[in-house]
Amino acid sequence: MPLPDEFLQTVKDSNEITSVMSTYVSLKRAGRDSVCLCPFHSEKTPSCHIYTDTQSFYCFGCGAGGDVITFIRLIENLDYIESVKFLAQRAGIPMPEDDRDQSGRIKQRLLEINREAARFYRDVLISEKGEEGRRYLAERRLTENTVRKYGLGYAPDSWDCLKRHMMAKGYGEDELLAAALISRSQKGTTYDKFRHRIMFPIIDRRGNIIAFGGRALEADALAKYLNSDETPVFHKRSGLFSLNFAKNTKEKFLILCEGYMDVISLNQAGFDNAVATLGTAITPEQARLMRQYCEQVVISYDSDVAGQKATMKAINLLSDAGVDARVLKMSGAKDPDEYVKKYGADGFRMLLSRSGEP
Ligand code: UTP
Ligand code: MN
Repeated sequence: MPLPDEFLQTVKDSNEITSVMSTYVSLKRAGRDSVCLCPFHSEKTPSCHIYTDTQSFYCFGCGAGGDVITFIRLIENLDYIESVKFLAQRAGIPMPEDDRDQSGRIKQRLLEINREAARFYRDVLISEKGEEGRRYLAERRLTENTVRKYGLGYAPDSWDCLKRHMMAKGYGEDELLAAALISRSQKGTTYDKFRHRIMFPIIDRRGNIIAFGGRALEADALAKYLNSDETPVFHKRSGLFSLNFAKNTKEKFLILCEGYMDVISLNQAGFDNAVATLGTAITPEQARLMRQYCEQVVISYDSDVAGQKATMKAINLLSDAGVDARVLKMSGAKDPDEYVKKYGADGFRMLLSRSGEP
């Protein structure tokens, strides 16, 4: 059943397109209208126009365009109904018969599951069973404050403790599979995906826990880091670890790292503008996402050969997105985590000040 036209009109009337768009892109006025760098493709000169009279936008570069609902659908990666809901909420208008929104409901449920799982992993970490996890985090020199700030947790060496906890809370096996927290074996039984790992919740810009990264405690584990599979709420191409903090930074630039631990260590040392990709090489979506928050990005990858190669790729993608890409040159440590531990925040600040154009 479609939403009533009248309701849609009210939602559009209550969300002036220029004011909505201005929270995502920086606008330049052009008479009654405005222009901006198009958030939907990479460009260096603004070709996206916003028309006050028709309450619409159009990009002469890539052809993206439409009304305020289309804009939200594209920029927030939502379906049509979710976009209307998003805007209705923004304007404080209640949705008619909310419960028709099937896919939105499923996503809501998955987010709720992730939140409960994060709580479980955190509780284990601070319990008797979490001793090994706490010891590991102490070895990595993370303070209790940092652990709390990032909501870190511990998945014990068990095949089913998360599953049992979640099912006791009323979540079904199918839902846990959909959340990618449990896996199905060839025999058909299900088991906890994350075992004997430090758990890093991955949090989106709006504060939702959308996935997890898990680090093995043993150096010889098959996979050092294990990340959630894609789910309806997790698209690893388009997310950035710690953007929920970095988006509020007072700095004029972001620091792009390879790993979760680099970002967390930098934050502990006072650099709240560090982010990392989610277990993959940087994508154009992530480059554009960074461009929405800052004009400059300092690439701060590992100092090894792989890191240098990845740096070249990142420079290209960031430049294509209109970002002023800088490169941090690091010696005496293999990654930012090791560097700040060895040379302190002042040492790293010095590196930042020396970072230059590629
Ligand atoms: P690194 O191997 O550089 O790890 O991987 P790191 O950040 O230095 O980790 P620590 O200090 O040993 O704990 C960088 C990133 O690549 C992804 C993870 O997102 C990690 O943060 N990665 C790495 C994986 O997804 N799987 C792996 O097995 C290894
Ligand atoms: Mn490291």
